[in-house]
Amino acid sequence: MSDTHGRDVVGLDSRAAALAVVEAALKSRSGLEEALNRPPFNRLEPRERAHARALAMMTLRHLGEIDHALAGKLAKPPPEAVMAILRIGACQLFYMDAPDFAAVDTSVELASAYKGTRPFKGLVNAVLRGLARAGKPEQDAARLAPDWLLSRWKAAFGAEAALNIAALIAVEPSTDLTFKHPAEAPALAEGLEARPLPGGSWRTDKGGALTEWPGFDEGAWWVQDAAAAIPARLLNVQPGETAVDLCAAPGGKTLQLAAAGAETVAVDRSAPRLVRVTENLARMQLTAETHAADAALWQDARKFDAVLLDAPCSATGTFRRHPDVLWATGPTDIVKLSLSQSRLLDTASMRVKDGGRLVYCVCSLEPEEGEGQIDGFLRRHPDFRLDPIAPGEGGAPEASITANGAMRILPFHIEGGADGFFAVRFVRN
Ligand SMILES: C[S@@+](CC[C@H](N)C(=O)[O-])C[C@H]1O[C@@H](n2cnc3c(N)ncnc32)[C@H](O)[C@@H]1O
Repeated sequence: MSDTHGRDVVGLDSRAAALAVVEAALKSRSGLEEALNRPPFNRLEPRERAHARALAMMTLRHLGEIDHALAGKLAKPPPEAVMAILRIGACQLFYMDAPDFAAVDTSVELASAYKGTRPFKGLVNAVLRGLARAGKPEQDAARLAPDWLLSRWKAAFGAEAALNIAALIAVEPSTDLTFKHPAEAPALAEGLEARPLPGGSWRTDKGGALTEWPGFDEGAWWVQDAAAAIPARLLNVQPGETAVDLCAAPGGKTLQLAAAGAETVAVDRSAPRLVRVTENLARMQLTAETHAADAALWQDARKFDAVLLDAPCSATGTFRRHPDVLWATGPTDIVKLSLSQSRLLDTASMRVKDGGRLVYCVCSLEPEEGEGQIDGFLRRHPDFRLDPIAPGEGGAPEASITANGAMRILPFHIEGGADGFFAVRFVRN
């Protein structure tokens, strides 16, 4: 297939795969990752796969705006499969710089390809032509997030902050790096086109395969969002201390603890995900003991100087890289997750030595999973006290420090954007 300029463009297969990925991503919280690991997506050639992925992610990133624009052209909602084709088509029109006719024609072809959507190809044609005529909608942050989440963020952080958070949904994130030896970063910075961030992370907008970037083969750095790199620093581990990372995979924080010289243990419930920890440790030439176990049931009597609980959470703070979480998560998920976080915190506390530190963190923007855990934990565990995080400590932005000394990073607290994160540090008396 070629475009108006006679250039070769990727074919219908990649659009069909993008369609499958978007549909799966909206069905369940694990849908996106699963769809990326099965046909039709994983059968594509690398170039088609890259296009399918970019199209699916862009559709999810702009889903709120796309649905709003489509609602204006649809008298009543069509079947989900048709809606998915319309979403992909609208994304190509507005956000992928596809020529209008190509976005419309390929969407009509997609509708024709499936029995269930074939009767709607006229509708697909008419709606997308209508959108093309109307032109790209002006960006409105209030439309980028689902209403229920935007309302929660307004209630928790105020209306202005909520809109500032939502505006970042449309922004493709840079890549942040953590260096194994921070002193080596300046020498590699030019080749990596990277600039330093407070706390020690480096940020780049370099393109191309990471595996080709300077320092990859030598294990000089790993990819880790600047906000995600702060919680492990708050444990301030010293060489020779013992540390356990109870929800470790894929291992960014385990690498930080091991690189700081701690005797590190990494635990994760998922054996396949733990393999990624092992691979990452090997690439970085770092060592840690690994265990595939439920952190709450892990049979190990040791107590540690430093305990990190990066608990499973709604991950609403990671929307810049995972826009699907915004649409696949519901209010009941947050309630369920906050209960399991409390239980995990209780068991994590049992692994802390007298005088040892416990950092609890989540990449969620929802207070029940963050601030809401503190009082209950301190009530249930009078042998612990909250150890306030100082502004700037470990790279924690001043604006992120709460009145009681926890850290609530909103995605706009770091210039250019970062994951939303919550962290709190306790010390065992
Ligand atoms: C937020 S991710 C951790 C990210 C990781 N700390 C990092 O920095 O790369 C949460 C992890 O918790 C694991 N997990 C979920 N429930 C668990 C449990 N009960 N015990 C241990 N691991 C668990 C998941 O498999 C997942 O890998």
